[in-house]
Amino acid sequence: MKPPRDLIPSELRPLLDRGEILALGAESLLIKHDWLGLPAVYKIRLPKSYRHPRLDERLRRARTRREARALTRLPEWGVPTPALYEVDLERCLIVMEHLPGETLRELTERNFRPRLFEELGRLVGRMHERGFVHYDLTTSNVLIVDGRPHVIDLGLSEDTTDPEDHAIDLRVFERCLESTHPDVREEAWEAFLRGYREERGEEATDTVLERLEDVKGRVRYV
Ligand SMILES: Nc1ncnc2c1ncn2[C@@H]1O[C@H](COP(=O)(O)OP(=O)(O)OP(=O)(O)O)[C@@H](O)[C@H]1O
Ligand SMILES: [Mg+2]
Repeated sequence: MKPPRDLIPSELRPLLDRGEILALGAESLLIKHDWLGLPAVYKIRLPKSYRHPRLDERLRRARTRREARALTRLPEWGVPTPALYEVDLERCLIVMEHLPGETLRELTERNFRPRLFEELGRLVGRMHERGFVHYDLTTSNVLIVDGRPHVIDLGLSEDTTDPEDHAIDLRVFERCLESTHPDVREEAWEAFLRGYREERGEEATDTVLERLEDVKGRVRYV
């Protein structure tokens, strides 16, 4: 993993030498390094050359802002996330608590635990109940710390109470189970929905599941 040095704002380049690179994703570079003596993650959204520079900057800032905002709101609803330490919109940087855990994806590939999916369903239900969607729900975007799911990667999140948007959020997760965890997908999905239903109640859940079927039908025939 060799991040392109020239894409990183010059003030942040020393991080590359001092910190440990955790991930170089499609959109961002994540570096583990202390922040005021605390173990932290620096998430930098890097420019994309295929986008117009002005649009690119606007997108990266908007996603940084959404992620930072979500990191402050979710804990208020009892949805665990890393603590937000700092946000720098100018440099598209978020500094957050480093969570000493593994992703739900890694854990599930080793040892499937339905209880974690049920708990995640509860957390997602709680977010939807508050009119908040994640829009990138995958098992790579959930970290397990002390046996509890923590939600990360919130740059695409949005405020919406529309059941259709909630259904799309669930569809992304269902697809992740189909492609990444085919052996346990049914049991994982059932556990997830059990938690979701418990949090949202029968009526809201049934409405979202109906919309989910619409969403799936539509994708199949276009
Ligand atoms: N707070 C954290 N503590 C520990 N590890 C983290 C933390 N945040 C991210 N990671 C690790 O880095 C990986 C990538 O992080 P994240 O999902 O936020 O970035 P991404 O997928 O590149 O995001 P985006 O799509 O917004 O560019 C995670 O799957 C996780 O392994
Ligand atoms: Mg991610």
